Amino acid sequence: MKIGIIGAGYVGLTTGICLAAKKHEITIFDINEEKVNHVHSGKLPFFEKGLQELLNTTITKNNLHSTNDLDILIQNTDGCFVCVGTPTKNHTIDLSQIKSAIDALASAIKNNDKENYVIIVRSTVTPSTTRKILLPILEDKLNQNFHLCMVPEFLREGNALDDFMNPDKIVIGSIDKYGINFVEEIFIDFKGNCEFIHTNLESAELIKYANNSFFSMLISFSNEIANISEKIPNVDPYQVLKALVSDKRITSQINGQSIVPGLDSYLVPGCGFGGSCFPKDVKAILNFAQSQKVSTPLLNAVLQINDERPDKMIKLCESILGSLKNKKITILGLTFKPDTDDLRSSPSIDAIKLFLEKGAQVSAYDPVIKNISNSILLPKECTYNLKIEESLENSDAVLVFTKWSEFKSLNFELLNKFMKKPLIIDGRGFLDKEKFPDGTYYKIGFMKE
Ligand code: UGA
Repeated sequence: MKIGIIGAGYVGLTTGICLAAKKHEITIFDINEEKVNHVHSGKLPFFEKGLQELLNTTITKNNLHSTNDLDILIQNTDGCFVCVGTPTKNHTIDLSQIKSAIDALASAIKNNDKENYVIIVRSTVTPSTTRKILLPILEDKLNQNFHLCMVPEFLREGNALDDFMNPDKIVIGSIDKYGINFVEEIFIDFKGNCEFIHTNLESAELIKYANNSFFSMLISFSNEIANISEKIPNVDPYQVLKALVSDKRITSQINGQSIVPGLDSYLVPGCGFGGSCFPKDVKAILNFAQSQKVSTPLLNAVLQINDERPDKMIKLCESILGSLKNKKITILGLTFKPDTDDLRSSPSIDAIKLFLEKGAQVSAYDPVIKNISNSILLPKECTYNLKIEESLENSDAVLVFTKWSEFKSLNFELLNKFMKKPLIIDGRGFLDKEKFPDGTYYKIGFMKE
């Protein structure tokens, strides 16, 4: 099928490359020429496991094209995914990019007199946006028949290829059968055993928010249990939550085998969630609900608990070291999770700022963040090292914020060799406590002995 993608960002490129890999003829459009050139030159502007290799393959097959001319996209395709950003602005969702993308798309459909074009909203938008804001833009401009669908994405950074190729659901929100058939045909080779879930536009929009809010809630729930645990001697909150997961309403038993659900990895205490989706989407749906005069005590708490996590790490450090003024602190892990180079809303960045405010000297190391000069997110007062040993040198405390596998090999000998006095605070609860003598290893969520 001939399919267009509007927006060559993370979601657009992943969608385009994966569709091209299954023999669809893809044209990617972006207003930003640099982004178009990235696709043209076959170089991904971000890191995503396996995607660069897949891009190389699709380029050799010559079925992935890029353009900054919307007329070319319309002429070469029968429908397109709209994958532009919907960031947060002044605490609410900023729809300016998607509104102007839809407006430009309508003009291009009209100019090219294209009949029965299918517009598939892929960007995350608050409920009713597609019908009440985007549809009127199209209706105002077009005399031609067109079809509008809302098909949310459920791609996890670091796992996006597998999530796309083996989806657990394909939600198709639509207003007519033509749109449904078109989207089903696109995804038929990806469907595997999962079902198409047919909904209206609004339910499709809300499914996306419910999904992200649910997993965020699990993390904040785990952190609230950890907050309680910290006040009780000898309680291990990780064990408490593992026991919870083994409840057969969560972990099913099939032929004597326990089927542990994927959600168990979100039921783990830690230094908090981040990334470009969970914090943004929980804020957006919460503000949307409030605009509808719906109170959201649960979602408010999800964010509040999460916002306090970086400070929890600092307080734990302070309770061991005393004043942090002029102390040297090492932060390990800058990305919001492993297997990505994404720094957005990363808890470690909040922690760096808080340590700096307290007068500490901060150095940081991350396995993939090597070139920090063009990052606007990283505080300049922090030193960024290329080697873990350099970052540990002369340090009073090391705090681990990301579950990178490289950090699993941390041990007392290494800390002892480079630090002033070994002290490690594990913000993800994944290091092997046995590798560190008593009084040198602390895990978030435990009462300090
Ligand atoms: C999230 C959703 O998981 C995707 O389904 C969704 O499509 C995407 O947002 C989006 O809206 O575009 P992502 O932010 O990449 O994807 O990541 P997750 O892997 O779910 O991580 C989110 C947060 O949960 C991170 O802070 C991470 O550290 C934490 N997390 C992740 C866990 O605590 N446990 C895990 O097993 C995975």
